Amino acid sequence: MRRIAVLTSGGDAPGMNAAIRAVVRTALEGEAEVFGVRRGYRGLIAGDFLPLGARDVGGIIQRGGTMLGSARCPEFRTPEGRTQALEALSRQGIEGLVVIGGNGSQTGAQALAATGFPVVGVASTIDNDLYGSDITIGVDTALNIALEAIDRLKVTASSHHRAFVVEVMGRDCGYPALMAGIAGGAEAITIPEVDCDPEAVADEIRRAYERGKPHALVVAAEGARYNAERLANYFKEQQARLGFELRVTILGHVQRGGAPSFADRMLATRLGAAAAQRLLDGQRGVLIGLIDNAIAVTPLDVVVASKKPLDTALLNLARVLAK
Ligand code: F6P
Repeated sequence: MRRIAVLTSGGDAPGMNAAIRAVVRTALEGEAEVFGVRRGYRGLIAGDFLPLGARDVGGIIQRGGTMLGSARCPEFRTPEGRTQALEALSRQGIEGLVVIGGNGSQTGAQALAATGFPVVGVASTIDNDLYGSDITIGVDTALNIALEAIDRLKVTASSHHRAFVVEVMGRDCGYPALMAGIAGGAEAITIPEVDCDPEAVADEIRRAYERGKPHALVVAAEGARYNAERLANYFKEQQARLGFELRVTILGHVQRGGAPSFADRMLATRLGAAAAQRLLDGQRGVLIGLIDNAIAVTPLDVVVASKKPLDTALLNLARVLAK
């Protein structure tokens, strides 16, 4: 394989740049030419390619975001969109593609691989909900950002004896909320995978005050039935009876914008280098992830057909440790 391309797709994740750098420099070592694709699958359909040499990816390992840009691209879900992409790849003489992204991106990668085009995925999403990797690029940094916010909120909450709800990302998955809640010492956590009774959350907060805590903190996932807004509204409606209210902080995209941590730089470097090497060695239609701290190769059709389980028993651990 003489010419490969690399793209980043879906929500950006800190460490994507480190992965691009590793793909480029590993492929150059294997004497292949590398092209970056601007704006994910949207740029692939448009044939928006950028030649990348070793120096073009210099000085990016420490930068958040993605130098190639990213996009969510519904057109790529259609056979017409994928045909246009294949034509663009062929016009450029590109023989293989590395796709750095999460569930939606790897579904696109699998659809392209199913046409016979060589594709290798790299596991990257701050949600950590991708089958085939214990941990994905961006999770560590995003969680550290959430924890910094939680630690700060606890300081001001303690000064005022207040209760706060902090909302973290995760439209369909509770991993970021569960981990930030445990590591941040939350009194309660709400996630999409487990239904939540707001009265149970109120009980946890009341018990925290009774134990003499100067603050109470709930971590809510964006996609939970009781996300921050709905929980705070419930508390507002019931304030006279409950005796306290919830102040709301929604972290949103702040979590995605950080400089990648050491863990994310290393993970992205290992996965990006392995992806380029496997592609040059002739592997295709697979996702490169990390399982038991070793590079793991999982067929993309297995990845897209499987759901990564969330250990919801950890909710109980969070409750026990919140004493
Ligand atoms: O999938 C990563 C993620 O950050 C989710 O946690 C979040 O729900 C979603 O992307 C937000 O997507 P967008 O940036 O397109 O609004």
